[in-house]
Amino acid sequence: MSDAPIIVQKTPYPVEVEEGKTYFWCSCGQSSKQPFCDGSHKGTAFNPVKYTAGSTKKAFFCGCKHSVNQPLCDGSHAKLD
Ligand code: FES
Ligand code: FES
Repeated sequence: MSDAPIIVQKTPYPVEVEEGKTYFWCSCGQSSKQPFCDGSHKGTAFNPVKYTAGSTKKAFFCGCKHSVNQPLCDGSHAKLD
């Protein structure tokens, strides 16, 4: 297992989030329930990143797993090879 997360896709996942609801973003890239964690990170150095929605809106979760502003997309996907 390498230290780098798997790049699932180089675009964000738009998700309608609900105010006050908590989400667990997959940081490892191995989940089959992207962009959220399904427990597949077990045994790796990765852990999911908790996100609590401050309002009901569309959030853009990072799909490339290289965002500096995890769990949301910050445009870093444009710098990946
Ligand atoms: Fe990727 Fe849990 S499955 S962080
Ligand atoms: Fe990862 Fe945009 S999808 S930074």
